[in-house]
Amino acid sequence: MSESLQDYLKTGQYRLNEYIMELLEKDKMLPDTLAESVMYSMRAGGKRLRPILMLAAFESFGGQGEKVLPVAAALEMVHTYSLIHDDLPAMDDDDYRRGQLTNHKKFGEATAILAGDALLTRSFSVIGQASEIRPDEKVYLMSYLSEAAGATGMIAGQALDMEAEDKESTLYELEQIHNLKTGKLLTYAIVAGAFLAGVKPETLELMKRFGTYIGLIFQIQDDILDVTGDESVLGKPVGSDEVNNKSTYPKLLGLNGAKAQMEKYVDLAHQCLEQADIKSSRLHELTVYLSTRTS
Ligand code: IPE
Ligand code: IPE
Ligand code: MG
Ligand code: MG
Ligand code: MG
Repeated sequence: MSESLQDYLKTGQYRLNEYIMELLEKDKMLPDTLAESVMYSMRAGGKRLRPILMLAAFESFGGQGEKVLPVAAALEMVHTYSLIHDDLPAMDDDDYRRGQLTNHKKFGEATAILAGDALLTRSFSVIGQASEIRPDEKVYLMSYLSEAAGATGMIAGQALDMEAEDKESTLYELEQIHNLKTGKLLTYAIVAGAFLAGVKPETLELMKRFGTYIGLIFQIQDDILDVTGDESVLGKPVGSDEVNNKSTYPKLLGLNGAKAQMEKYVDLAHQCLEQADIKSSRLHELTVYLSTRTS
C-alpha cells in the first residue's frame, strides 16, 4: 500500500471515530448495559471503509466541508449493527469480531440484538439532525439508506445467505447474494458521497455501477480471507464459512478462480471511474486496496 493511501485511511478513521464517539457519548442511552454494549462494538477497531469510501467519493467530485460526516457516521452505524446480528448464534455463530469477543459473547444475546436495533434506528436521526444538509437531500439520503439496508438490500442478502447454507448455489445466485448483503451498503457509500458533492444524474448512475463492482470485490476478498487470512490480523475467525457450509466464491470457483473473478471486477470498476471523468486517483487506489487487503 502506498504511504499516502495509508495516511488517508488513518486520517479518515480518526475523523470518523471522533465524530461518531462524540455523537454517541452525548446520547442518553438507557439502560447502562445497553449503552455499554453499543459503545463496545462501535469503539472496536473496524476499518471504517464505508465512511472512508463516502468521503473519498465526496472529495473526488469536488465536495468540501463537513456535510458528508453525519451520513458517513450513519452508514457505519448500520454496518456495525449488521455485524452484531451477523455474528449471533442463530446466524453465523461467531465468537470474535474486530479483535474482541462478539457482542453477544460479552453481553448476552438479548442485549446484542437490542444494541444492533439501537444502532440501526439511531442512524436515521443522525441524518435527520444534520444541520448542513438540506431537507430535500435528507429525504433522499434517508429513504435510500432504508432501501439499501432493508429487505431490498442488505437484509435480503443476509436472508439469501442463510438459505444458501448447505446448498450448491450457482454463480448467478452467489453474485446476487453478494450484491445484496455487501454491495448495497458499499454502493450507498459511493452514491451518497457523490450525491452530496452535487453530481449530475448520469454520473450518479455510473457511480451506482462502480459501487456494485466494489461490493463484489470486497465480498470476494472477504470470502478469500476466510480461507487464507490470519485471524490475528483479521480480528475475526478464519474458516467460519466452511463450518457453516456457506456459499462462497472460493467454494464455487476455487481460490484461483475467485481471484480471477475479482480481478475482472477490478477492471470494470476502474473503467467506471474513467468514464466518470474524475481527476483524483483516490477511488482507483481504494479499489486496488479492497482487492488486496489482508484485514
Ligand atoms: C465485514 O465488513 C462484513 C462484510 C460485509 C464482509 P468489514 O471487513 O468492513 O468489517 P469492519 O468494519 O472492518 O470490522
Ligand atoms: C456479512 O458477510 C455481511 C453482512 C451484511 C454483515 P459475512 O458473514 O461473510 O461477514 P463476516 O465474514 O462475518 O465479517
Ligand atoms: Mg454472514
Ligand atoms: Mg459472518
Ligand atoms: Mg465473511
